[in-house]
Amino acid sequence: MSTTDEIRIVTTPDAFRAACDEARGRGQRVGLVPTMGALHEGHVALAREAARHASFVAVSIFVNPTQFGPNEDLARYPRDLAADVASLRGLAHLVFAPEPTAMYLPGDETRVRVGPLAAHLCGPFRPGHFEGVCTVVTKLFALVGPCAAVFGEKDFQQLAIVRRVAADLFLPVEVVAHTIVREPDGLAKSSRNAYLSPQDRVRALCLSRGLRTAVDAFRGGERRAGVLRRLARAEVDAGADRVDYVEITDPATIQPIPAEEAVARALLAIACHIGKTRLIDNVVLGEDGL
Ligand code: PAF
Repeated sequence: MSTTDEIRIVTTPDAFRAACDEARGRGQRVGLVPTMGALHEGHVALAREAARHASFVAVSIFVNPTQFGPNEDLARYPRDLAADVASLRGLAHLVFAPEPTAMYLPGDETRVRVGPLAAHLCGPFRPGHFEGVCTVVTKLFALVGPCAAVFGEKDFQQLAIVRRVAADLFLPVEVVAHTIVREPDGLAKSSRNAYLSPQDRVRALCLSRGLRTAVDAFRGGERRAGVLRRLARAEVDAGADRVDYVEITDPATIQPIPAEEAVARALLAIACHIGKTRLIDNVVLGEDGL
C-alpha cells in the first residue's frame, strides 16, 4: 500500500462513511481495524495485516461503553488518542474516533445478539459484553461498507462471534484473523497489561505457562480434554487471584468438550484475574500456535 504520514482523523459517523466511500471511489479496497485504543504492538500488527488485504487502512478508536459491565473498567480504560495516532503513522490512512453520543444516538435501543457462541467462556462472566461488541461492530461495518476487517485471535470467542454476525447479517465484510502477539516471555499483548504492577506482571505469566504446559502434554501425546484442562488449570491457579475459566472447547462452536473426550483440534482458553486486572489468553491445540 502507499503509506502516508498524514492520518486523517474523523469523529462523526457521516465523515467516517464518506471517507471510506471516497477511498473505494478512488478504486481502493478498505481495510478496517476496530480497536478501543491504548494501542500496542498487537494492534500495529493488525494494521499491518489490514494493509496486506487493503490499500486504504482505517482504524476505529472507540471505548465502547455497551460492552462493559457495571463493575468493569470503563472509567479507567486507558485513553490517549495522540499516542494512538502516532503509533499508526505510516500504517493507517484514517482514524475514526467518535464520542459515545455519536455512536449511540438519543433514543438508541437497537442491539445485536448472538446465541450459543456467547453461552460459554467469557459470555457468562461478562453478561451483555458480546451484545455490546456485536452492536458496535455491526455499526462500524455499516459505516465502512465493503471491507476486510482484522481481529486478533487473543479474543478468540469475539472473533468467532463477529464472523457469525457478518455472515448472518449478510454484511459485505471479509473477517480476517491475526495471530496473538506476545511479549518475549510469553505474555499476550493487551491494553490491560498497562494496569499490572511489576509483581502482577510476573504473576500474569501463569496464563501463557498454563497454555504451554497443555501444549507440551498435547505434543507428547496426551489427548484427554479433562487432563489437558487440569494441567493448564494448575498453572493458572498457582498465579492468579481468581480464575473465571480454564476451558477446552470446539474452536468453531465454542461449546465445551467433555473431560473424557479425546481432542484432535481444540481451543484451550483462559480468563483470570491478576490483582484488579482481568486477562485472557488461548491457544488452539493441534495447531502450531504459541
Ligand atoms: O477487541 C476490541 O478491542 C473490541 O471488543 C472491539 C472489537 C474494538 C469492539 O469494541
